[in-house]
Amino acid sequence: QTILWNAAMAEKAGFKHFMLKEIFEQPQAITNTVSGRVNPETGEVSLAEINLSAQECRNIDRIFLVACGTSWHAALVAKYWIERHAKIPVEVDIASEFRYRHLLIDERVLTITISQSGETADTLAGMRIARKMGSKAITICNVVGSTMTREADGTVYTHAGPEIGVASTKAFTSQLAALFLFTIFLGRHRGTIDLAKQQELAQALIGIPAIIEHHLPKIQEQVGALIEGYYDCRDFLFVGRGLSYPIALEGALKLKEISYIHAEGYASGELKHGPIALIDKEMPIVAMVPQDKVYHKTISNIEEIKARQGRLILIGSEGDSHLLTITDDVVWLPKIHEDMNPILYTIPAQLLAYEIATRRGCDVDQPRNLAKSVTVE
Ligand code: G6P
Repeated sequence: QTILWNAAMAEKAGFKHFMLKEIFEQPQAITNTVSGRVNPETGEVSLAEINLSAQECRNIDRIFLVACGTSWHAALVAKYWIERHAKIPVEVDIASEFRYRHLLIDERVLTITISQSGETADTLAGMRIARKMGSKAITICNVVGSTMTREADGTVYTHAGPEIGVASTKAFTSQLAALFLFTIFLGRHRGTIDLAKQQELAQALIGIPAIIEHHLPKIQEQVGALIEGYYDCRDFLFVGRGLSYPIALEGALKLKEISYIHAEGYASGELKHGPIALIDKEMPIVAMVPQDKVYHKTISNIEEIKARQGRLILIGSEGDSHLLTITDDVVWLPKIHEDMNPILYTIPAQLLAYEIATRRGCDVDQPRNLAKSVTVE
């Protein structure tokens, strides 16, 4: 009798790679982050583990978000959420920059480090510096008992489960879920979110795992169907605005990491300040176009790309027939609460990188030169 599986395959639960398994685990990972922390009726969020009193929430006058890599992209999304809903100025820093710049930090600053591993050397150093300067430090972290969680004043565990693929997937979307919980918590304590808003935001977050679960196979199918025309391209641009801008950065990073294709993420409005010079009929551009507050602005940026014959892949909302006047290569996603778009729009970006990389024969779980956790400077 032939043995058709081995231990490593069993751990992949029938998936070809850990990365794909972890992409499909995202509904569960987000559920794990959220469950037990939100009252499903009122939307009230409890985060006792961060040790931040209502009074402290009111006393904060600035927040620093510090992280590296994919976790830094989560920080960029959180800036939009926190400023919009909790109305506190947020600065986002790459940890290796944060730790060496002239920081203006005192006890009214709250520092939040975001790290899957809780061991990234630069992020950990950033946290130590901020604490020394009098800031309280919270960490959003996946690995229980890691150095960051031991040194922080409080921790929000993402509970995403072990992430084996070097390119971060479920850790990222669960960081987003944790940061959105934190946004609701903070806004509520500062009085910038009323009861109705609290309920609306919490419901949006609670509903996202089922939406992802339902659409994941369809998204994979759509992405799989269009990569044949793109997998051997040399360069890619990813663009988005507002909440989709960090997701454009994340899409570009994922593609670079696992397929070794040169890719750059740009804010859509910034295209005309340089990158538009790169656009010709060879250049693929992935654009995130949810029907959000900045939709019309994004569309006009995309029309500029089309006028220069760029090869557009659009990721947009079901029913938005205008997109088909621009290109046939559209990945359709359901229209959901605007604040949840970054979580949903990440899924096709991850799958695009995955499908292209596997089509090119790359080792997606262990890309060359990369480490899961970077514990040196
Ligand atoms: C490495 C990993 C990335 C990760 C980054 C930050 O570069 O390859 O996937 O985003 O470190 O890691 P952290 O554990 O701090 O989130």
